[in-house]
Amino acid sequence: MHKSVQDILNMKKEKKKISVITSYDYTLASLCDKAGIDILLVGDSAGMVMLGYENTIPVTMDQMCMFTESVSNARKSSLLVADLPFMSYQASIEDAINNSGKLIKAGADAVKLEGGSIMAETISAIVDVGIPVMGHIGLQPQTTMLSQGYKVQGKTKEAAMKLIQDAKELEEAGVFSIAIEMVSHEVAEIISETVSVPIIGIGSGVGCDGQVLVVHDLLGMYDKIKPKFAKRYMNLSEDIVKSLENYKNDVSSGTFPAEENWFSMDETELKKLRDHFGS
Ligand code: KIV
Repeated sequence: MHKSVQDILNMKKEKKKISVITSYDYTLASLCDKAGIDILLVGDSAGMVMLGYENTIPVTMDQMCMFTESVSNARKSSLLVADLPFMSYQASIEDAINNSGKLIKAGADAVKLEGGSIMAETISAIVDVGIPVMGHIGLQPQTTMLSQGYKVQGKTKEAAMKLIQDAKELEEAGVFSIAIEMVSHEVAEIISETVSVPIIGIGSGVGCDGQVLVVHDLLGMYDKIKPKFAKRYMNLSEDIVKSLENYKNDVSSGTFPAEENWFSMDETELKKLRDHFGS
């Protein structure tokens, strides 16, 4: 049985920190699940790390459904949350409900969408049809990025008050948790203490109820952007390139494949074949 939304809510009550990692494909998602990560997030960051876009704007519902399906085939114990991509929920509540339904049919347990108080009505409508929602405030890559670029959020008293108000309104709208991205750690801590739902930070300090990282950053596989909050636990891209160079050299020199990598014919059958060709 995999984790439920209620299990995640209980973790905050029990003061247990929540681990979240992005996942987009079957193979890596299986490893994240095996490692006991609490929530697998099919983030629209897939647009950058899986599809090579400059940002998350071009990501479509079809792409998100495909990534969600492959992660869903892998997960056994984590909760699975999937992002609603840009313009799949902003234009109308009907869009938001229909598209949330598509992600749930693709295997997600909950959806995530970006936006503060302006999204409260949409969030309550999705929650009302029975779909759990994770909010996302602070830096919102789908929109903040268009106007401001990568910038720490909540650095003035007014900005901080707005973020705290956003978090409260999302809580009232019924979210089961809120991701807060690149918010000064003092504000993130106040929000975590103010609302009852778990606050999942990314670049927002240790006072949050949980943390989320993009799996390609954690494994050292994505070099285009290297934000300081994205701790690298290994440098996998170096190991991958080295292994591929070794493979290329082995092919060139004829040391791959070797006997243990190939299959042999039955001796008598081989003799008959050779006799046939007189070799
Ligand atoms: O898309 C994503 O990866 C995210 C997280 C980083 C919060 O939204």
